[in-house]
Order: sequence, then structure tokens, then C-alpha cells
Amino acid sequence: MQRSILILGGTAEARALAGKLAGDPRFTVELSLAGRTRAPAEQPVPVRIGGFGGAEGLAAYLNQKDVSILIDATHPYAAQISRNAAKAAEMSGVPLVALRRSPWLRQPDDRWIEVGSVADAVNELGEAPRKAFLTLGRQELLPFEAAPQHAYLVRSVDPVEPPLAVPNAVYLTARGPFGQADEVRLLQDHGIDVIVAKNSGGPASYGKIAAARDLGIEVILIRRPDLPDVPSVETVGEMLAWLDHAPAPLK
Ligand SMILES: NC(=O)c1ccc[n+]([C@@H]2O[C@H](COP(=O)([O-])OP(=O)(O)OC[C@H]3O[C@@H](n4cnc5c(N)ncnc54)[C@H](OP(=O)(O)O)[C@@H]3O)[C@@H](O)[C@H]2O)c1
Repeated sequence: MQRSILILGGTAEARALAGKLAGDPRFTVELSLAGRTRAPAEQPVPVRIGGFGGAEGLAAYLNQKDVSILIDATHPYAAQISRNAAKAAEMSGVPLVALRRSPWLRQPDDRWIEVGSVADAVNELGEAPRKAFLTLGRQELLPFEAAPQHAYLVRSVDPVEPPLAVPNAVYLTARGPFGQADEVRLLQDHGIDVIVAKNSGGPASYGKIAAARDLGIEVILIRRPDLPDVPSVETVGEMLAWLDHAPAPLK
């Protein structure tokens, strides 16, 4: 009997996993997106878009769709949906496994400053004007309005609208992956002296970290949020192996 998998996505790994499972006769697969990006990348399996209405809503969805395995392949900073997934799995009895990339590890020449929040990152920039490269989501940029003395280069998937209320900001819209050589050029072209980023892990956005190391540029890294303690793997390959030996009984 085919088993039904719901993947909570929004990451390159979720898409890659869906691609691997798309033709697998053992499973039917649906991918769920929050609906944050205007033109999401094309996905290899059927997609549903939008929130479920909290953990209860997700649990109801799992029951209604007779889901047999829930995979949380959301971004490591998307903590709310991961908490909801853990609760919903408990409520519904549907097995949950998370796909979580491991964080980047500090290398000897990295000049990292780790902070707990975006507001702390703004403070860390200090009083003196700097040229900061921000690679955060559109929704996370507002706190930088409190520090209008800096010049900002902002890169996001969708345009930042309305733009930040600061006098000096340049906006780039782009979707990764971003290679190290291109990132070095970008940092040099804009005279950047500090980067503010999340410790996303994975190769797609590591280019800027490697580029900052090459150029001796400081990186203010926002620490990962606490995530629920659920069974988890780090790579798509490990997830496929987990699914091969998924614990019985499954619905
Ligand atoms: N946060 C980041 O840095 C980041 C970076 C890249 C990609 N993303 C992706 O963007 C999405 C939203 O991120 P976020 O930081 O806003 O998450 P979040 O704060 O953890 O989630 C907020 C709410 O958005 C809805 N939601 C989130 N992910 C969903 C999904 N895959 N399918 C259906 N509903 C979802 C849920 O609404 P309900 O409670 O109504 O169900 C959730 O409570 C995630 O799927 C994540 O993988 C996030």
C-alpha cells in the first residue's frame, strides 16, 4: 500500500527530497509551502500553499489527508512551524522526522560575532557608519531602521517593499546558490566591511562566508533558534535511508 508523505518545505533540501521521491511507487508526496515568496521555484510534486492554522490545524490536516509520515524540511530559522510540526505529530500520532542541515562551523580565519537576535546584530554594528551587507529575509530587516547611519546592501528573494526608512540602502533581488568568487566581487564592488547573516548551513549560501574569510571581513551571525527535539537527519540521502527503514507500523 502506498504511504502518504507530507513535506513541510521552503528549502532547497525539501525540493531535492521531493524530486527523489516523486517517481517512487511506494509513496505519494505533497509539499507544503508557507507562501512567502511571490514566485516559488517549481516543485517536482503537488504543492499546497499557506499556513495550516497552528499545530491543531496541521494535526487536523494530517488526519484528514491520512498522512502516514510527516517530514519537517523547513529552514532552521523557521522555528514556529517546526514546533507546530512536533505538536501536531504528537496529537495525530503521525511519525515525524526532521531534515535539518548542520550549521557552518567557524574556521580559523573567520571573524564571526555570534548574536541572539536581529536587534542584537543592529547593536553590534556600533555607532560609527559602516557598509553592511544584509542577507536576511524581508520580514527581518525593520530593526535596521534604528541605525540609519550605516550604508546597507540588502539581498533578498523578493523586493523589499516598502524599502527601509534609511537614507543609504541598495537592494538586490536574487535566489542562490551564490558562489564564493561572485561574492568576493560583490563585497569588493560595494566596499562592504561587515555582513549580517543567519547560520543557515549548507552550500548554497556559504559563498559569502568564504568570501568574507578571504577578505578579512567581519560576519555578524544570528544564532539558530531552539528547535524541538525530534528524530532528525542532516541530508537528503540520510532521509531517503530513513524512509527505507521507516518504523512500522505506518498508516
Ligand atoms: N526563516 C527563514 O530564515 C527562512 C529562510 C528560507 C526559507 N524559509 C522558509 O519559509 C517558510 C516560512 O518561514 P518562517 O520563518 O516564516 O516560518 P515560521 O516563523 O516558523 O512559521 C510561521 C508560520 O508560517 C506558516 N508556515 C511556515 N512554514 C510553512 C510551510 N512549509 N507550510 C505551511 N505553512 C507554513 C505556519 O502557519 P500556521 O501556524 O498557520 O500553520 C507557521 O506557524 C518556511 O517554510 C521556511 O522553510 C525560511
